Formats: sequence, C-alpha cells, structure tokens
Amino acid sequence: MKISHHYDYGSTYRQSLQVNWQVDDLIGGEKTLDFRKSFLPEVWVDADALDFLSDKEKLTVNHIRSHSYLYLFGFVEESIVPFVLEHVQGRLHKAAPDELRALLHFAEEEVKHIELFQRFCQEFRGGFGSTCDVLGSPETVAAAILSKSPLGAGLAILHIEWMTLLHYVSSVRDRVDIDPQFSSLLRHHWLEESQHAKLDTMIVQAIAQPLSEREIQEGIDDYLAIGGILDGGFTAQMDMDLASFTRATGRTLSGDEATRYREVQQRSYRKTFLTSGMRHGKFQSILAAISPEGARQVAQVADTLVPDDD
Ligand SMILES: [Fe+2]
Ligand SMILES: [Fe+2]
Repeated sequence: MKISHHYDYGSTYRQSLQVNWQVDDLIGGEKTLDFRKSFLPEVWVDADALDFLSDKEKLTVNHIRSHSYLYLFGFVEESIVPFVLEHVQGRLHKAAPDELRALLHFAEEEVKHIELFQRFCQEFRGGFGSTCDVLGSPETVAAAILSKSPLGAGLAILHIEWMTLLHYVSSVRDRVDIDPQFSSLLRHHWLEESQHAKLDTMIVQAIAQPLSEREIQEGIDDYLAIGGILDGGFTAQMDMDLASFTRATGRTLSGDEATRYREVQQRSYRKTFLTSGMRHGKFQSILAAISPEGARQVAQVADTLVPDDD
C-alpha cells in the first residue's frame, strides 16, 4: 500500500502558522450578513430547480440551506477534534516534534472552526426573522463516527477535508454575487483545510499501513456506514428545512411542490456533503492506493446516491 504524496509534517505546520486568522477577523461588529444576497453558491443549494418558487422564495431557500451548512459543519467537525487527539496520544514518545505540533495545531484549528460556525449561526439567527430548526445532539453523530474503526473514521474525515476545499475552489473563487462575509468564511475555512487534508492523508496512511486486507475492507465498510448515518441526518434536516421555509415565507407548498422540494433538496444535500467528497479526485486516488476494490465500491455507492452529478 503506497499513497503517493509529497507532504511532510514540518512544512505543513509552517504553512498553517502563516495562515493564522482569528474568528473576530471574519464576523462580528461591522461584519454582518447581508440578507439581500445569497450566502452559499447556487451550485450547493439548487434553489433554481424549484421553478415554482419566486426569486425571493429561492433566496429564502438559499439562506435556510446556508444556516444548515453552518450548523452541520460545526456538527461534523466536533468528531474531528477527538479523532485527532486520540491519534496524537498513540504517537506520543514515538513521533518527532514537528508531527506532534502539526497534529495538535490541526485539532486546535478545528476547535476554532467550530466557534466560527457557531458565531455565523448566531449572526444568522439575529437577522433571518424566523427560526430555522436543525438536527439535535451533535454528540450522538460524533459518537457514532468515533465508534467506527480508526480507518473508517479517518476516511470520513479525509472526505470532509477534501470536500471543504472543493466547496470553495469550485464555486466561490472569482464569484462576486454572494454575501462577502459568507464568502470570506468559505475562503478562510479553505485556507486551513488545505493543511488538514495533507495531515489527514498522512494520518490515514499511518493507520492503514499495518492493516490486513480484511481490516481495510472493514474500514471502508465503516466509512460507508458513516455516510449512511449522515445521509439519514440530511433527510431529517430537509424536512425541517421545509417547515422553516413555510415559517419564513408564510407559503405552504402543495403536495406536488413539497414532493419536488424533497427530491431536489435530497439530491442537493447528497451532492454537497456526500458525493462531492466520494468522487473527489484526491480522495479517490488515496482510497485506490489503499484498496482499488474499495475505491470502486465507493464510486458505485456515489452513483446510486446521485447518478447524474454535474
Ligand atoms: Fe474545519
Ligand atoms: Fe479540517
């Protein structure tokens, strides 16, 4: 098993020290959300596919999805901190100082990201005008992820890291029509996740190295099981979004419209959080180095979830 990369702990740690932004630089005080604008790029919301809605209602869908994006990200990142800390604990007295400092800094940055998402959520709730319900109990999801094998959890986190980079790179850079504060959040998250993706590649490599073929297959099955847990969460979130839409706009959708809303939004949640990671070139190549069959299996599941990704 040989994952091909040119990463090392020392230079990745030094890159992370150069980035070094603070939450207050991004939100609070004069830095507020402009509710006249979209927050997330349309490619991650697909409100335009809901052609029975007015432009104003589509903007409301964008805002509801942006709120759930903030919340769900804070949510999944809560599982990354204990995962990294547990890995570091196993490396104490073995690893060089560069590796330990890089990994501890990785965990510390994720704590900062959780605070960042929470602060944006607070700002959102102060300006949106009605409540947006969200899934309860992030601890339960974090516990479910951490109850899986280290390879399964490590792959899920690696998927999240590469996916975050794609969210910014593919759709935000050079766009001017979304709210500048939200765009700044995606950009600053990307700046630090760029180092996390490298660090997590090295973590996954270290975890997978001594495993037998059977243990690797178990890790891939665990990764897919985590995806299944998240997919169930997105379906529940989508129903909450529909209720939030009615509360915000005063419009109750007809039976056909509600069905269409669910179809479009289920595909959109899956594309944003699941298949964009499963199909990511870097993620797929790391997976293929660990298990070519596992990489094919993950690609097949992605095709079942969203057959016609664009
Ligand atoms: Fe993060
Ligand atoms: Fe990260």
